[in-house]
Amino acid sequence: MDAIDLAIIGGTGVYRLASLEDTQAIEGETPYGAPSGPVRVGRLAGRRVAFLARHGEGHSLPPHRVNYRANLWQLESLGAQRVLAINTVGGITERFGPRVLALPDQLIDYTWGRTSSFWDGEGGELLHVDFGDPYTPSLRQAVREAAAKSAIELVDGGCYGATQGPRLETRAEIARMRRDGCDLVGMTGMPEAGLARELGLDYACLAVVANWAAGCGDDAEITLADVLANVDAASAGLPALLDALLA
Ligand code: HPA
Repeated sequence: MDAIDLAIIGGTGVYRLASLEDTQAIEGETPYGAPSGPVRVGRLAGRRVAFLARHGEGHSLPPHRVNYRANLWQLESLGAQRVLAINTVGGITERFGPRVLALPDQLIDYTWGRTSSFWDGEGGELLHVDFGDPYTPSLRQAVREAAAKSAIELVDGGCYGATQGPRLETRAEIARMRRDGCDLVGMTGMPEAGLARELGLDYACLAVVANWAAGCGDDAEITLADVLANVDAASAGLPALLDALLA
């Protein structure tokens, strides 16, 4: 099978890559069950690119029901070595207001009850992967350079806090996350990043800030309509950024 130059996992509000051409939909089960939907493999900027909608193309899967293992396994078995994850998030600290695109360099995992490893005891294998830098520095650098080349503003760095959802957080939970050092809050960053590391994939997170987290910024009520409008606006630069990343 031909290698895939880049796999993209789309988050809330990013269900298709319009610029992907000659696409083929690849369906099928993995040893870990079914992925969130078909992997669409096609050409983008002359390169072979795979796209998978994390929540399903009709957004039918909440964050705690996504089969993260099947998704990453499927991408890897199709020949992907680099995964760019797009994650919709809330902003906690000042630099991360709505409509910002961010490239976090750290994360804290607050999720619970999710299957978080490929090595669950079957086969007797025990794997403690290094995870000091949860996002692959070389891929982060490539994204940073692509953003600069395509004049897309990107906030570089920051800590992503992964919460369980699907409800949003309380003000006290966000205040605690701020004290912990989180800049961003989202529900899908883990176990995805850890599983990618277990498979040896390069993995980076492009976080799309949809709203201020509870008690932050203007402290407005968070509505789905605002979230989607902000994701749409912030994602407008994505095609140019992807072109530059693949060039
Ligand atoms: N919290 C958690 N996840 C999110 C948020 C939020 O405020 N906004 C978008 N995804």
